[in-house]
Amino acid sequence: MENKQTVRIALTKGRIEQGAIDIFKAADIDCSELLNKGRKLIFENKCSNIEFVLVKAADVITYVEHGVVDIGIVGKDTLMEYNKSFYEVLDLKFGCCKFAVAGPKNSNFYEGYNRKKIATKYPNVARNYFRTIGQDVEIIKIEGSVELGPILGLADAIVDIVETGNTLKENGLVIYEDICSISARMIVNIASIKMKKEEIGEIMLKVQREVSKREAV
Ligand code: PRP
Repeated sequence: MENKQTVRIALTKGRIEQGAIDIFKAADIDCSELLNKGRKLIFENKCSNIEFVLVKAADVITYVEHGVVDIGIVGKDTLMEYNKSFYEVLDLKFGCCKFAVAGPKNSNFYEGYNRKKIATKYPNVARNYFRTIGQDVEIIKIEGSVELGPILGLADAIVDIVETGNTLKENGLVIYEDICSISARMIVNIASIKMKKEEIGEIMLKVQREVSKREAV
């Protein structure tokens, strides 16, 4: 190995983890340590200058912002929810889904003058969206299974991620409005991009090439 600085990369655990591993493998960036991970959280590769950590989505941003991690792979949904400092350098074009407003079929969500209640795991995204369209709503923060909100009568509608649409369908909910598309992104710490310019540049180039290759198919 040449005398390169170590680059630490945080991957989001769960849904986009495998997509991230696939793109690194295809881009010829060794992440073999991640394949048999057990309960380990940090993965150093003796033959490369790259090490990986696996953390929750919001923590990816926190680690990158604080510079203990140089690069993060995280969904645009999380980036939109948490207003932090980092460079968003690449759209990785996987983990594609969307933010939408959804609620019960046959409901008159856009009618009437009563202030509607919105259940969501993404209060900032929801607040910003309804502010943009000029609708005054009450936001209720939920930690998961947001679809239950309207079903149990906690809320009139939800703002949530829709991927296949199956969760909405199986719970008798429909999309009222699409908000925006979401995909996995690469983010970089503001100081690291200068301090580790060469190492990070090489990783970005390899991953960008792989993204472009996939798009061309
Ligand atoms: C997400 C999201 C929806 C579901 C959408 O939840 O909040 O519930 O996935 O996916 P679909 O359109 O493919 O059905 P997640 O699985 O992350 O679990 P959670 O609700 O417990 O956070």
